[in-house]
Amino acid sequence: MDNFTFHNPTKLIFGKGQLDALPGEVEKYGKKVLIVFGGGSIKKNGIYDNIMRKLKEIDAEVFELSGVEPNPRIATVRKGVEICKQEGVDFVLAVGGGSTIDCTKAIATGANTDVDMWDIVTKKEKPPAALPFGTVLTHAATGSEMNRGSVITNWETNEKHGWGSPHTNPQFSILDPTHTFSVPRDQTVYGIVDMMSHVLEHYFHPQSNTPLQDRFCESLLLTVMETAPKVLEEPDNYEHRETIMLSGTLALNDMLSMGFRGDWGSHNLEHAVSAVHDIPHGGGLAILFPNWMKHVLDDSNADRFKQLGVRVFGVDTEGKTDKEAALEGIEKLRKFWSGIGAPSRLAEYDIDESSVESMAEKTVIARPEFGNYKKLTKQDSAEIFRASL
Ligand code: NZQ
Ligand code: ZN
Repeated sequence: MDNFTFHNPTKLIFGKGQLDALPGEVEKYGKKVLIVFGGGSIKKNGIYDNIMRKLKEIDAEVFELSGVEPNPRIATVRKGVEICKQEGVDFVLAVGGGSTIDCTKAIATGANTDVDMWDIVTKKEKPPAALPFGTVLTHAATGSEMNRGSVITNWETNEKHGWGSPHTNPQFSILDPTHTFSVPRDQTVYGIVDMMSHVLEHYFHPQSNTPLQDRFCESLLLTVMETAPKVLEEPDNYEHRETIMLSGTLALNDMLSMGFRGDWGSHNLEHAVSAVHDIPHGGGLAILFPNWMKHVLDDSNADRFKQLGVRVFGVDTEGKTDKEAALEGIEKLRKFWSGIGAPSRLAEYDIDESSVESMAEKTVIARPEFGNYKKLTKQDSAEIFRASL
């Protein structure tokens, strides 16, 4: 393992009825509150009204930014920054999924500087301390509710970048599984693929001696795979939503990556695809991750892929080489995702050969090579995209 410091300052408030904690938590930071939300799901399912009622208990002065897009855009971040500056907002509250939370992290940071947030997202400028912010999560997927990461898209330049700072962990996150009952089937599937992908990104790391971390990862994958068909069958079953919601948070709150840094190449590939085609993040990962696996698998690393195949996908190794067992595991992952309704080809999003080169270009904007388990180049990206068409 590498030496490490683990410090996750986000207060996690989990369970049915935990929205009751909202007024007390917000009050610590002030009364002028900007609430940030997406395209309107929280108005349909009643979460918006409940939040407003709770904020009234502390006589909060509430401002609103609605319409945060899935794959949130820098233009929307700028609107939120403007509101914070004009109104002297004390606290920003994200109510939604990863997109709303990521947008909120950028707004809270941009509110404290005259630097344009895109220069911070693209790492040209350093992020200042952010305004305090919290989240009410409505969709289990990204783990953004308990990490510092934020992913923002610039639709003018077709770029999508991840960034974060020591100040972009939410002060608190309220996770009530009943808030996810209304998540549509396709989004539930994308969330499941995303959280499993986060575990897999961790699993493929260059360090040695991580037996405990390996088994944490494997148990998370097994739990999500056991629960996924059940939650799709019964979307308003509290226990299934509860298991999936906690899994999504633990899959990307730094707990699984103590002592190493995972690969994250598949995420870089997916961000390049959605920067050009605006597809759902989980949908893109379901297509790309198994092809990344096949691309990087070789004799030197087949044992790790085999371990995953045996322990998580029940591959029988009898009479098979490590590579054959590894490939069978990868195929089982693909089948599992297809079986719950995730896409398996870019053609399902009308993406064809004509955009392979431009997407490959996007994967190396920040640096000429990417991936921490296996270094990949633009040429590798193009090959993985072609295998995914
Ligand atoms: O916009 P609304 O109307 O709220 O609808 C949303 C949206 O259409 C809907 N939804 C959310 N909660 C709902 C609901 N519909 C009904 N009932 C509810 N309770 O779901 C749709 C997708 O929401 P979104 O927030 O976009 O999904 P997700 O949480 O998957 O976030 C995706 C974004 O996060 C980034 C992705 O790249 C993408 O931009 N990521 C962020 C990460 C991070 N910050 O750590 C890591 C991830 O790997 C990822 O890259
Ligand atoms: Zn992800």
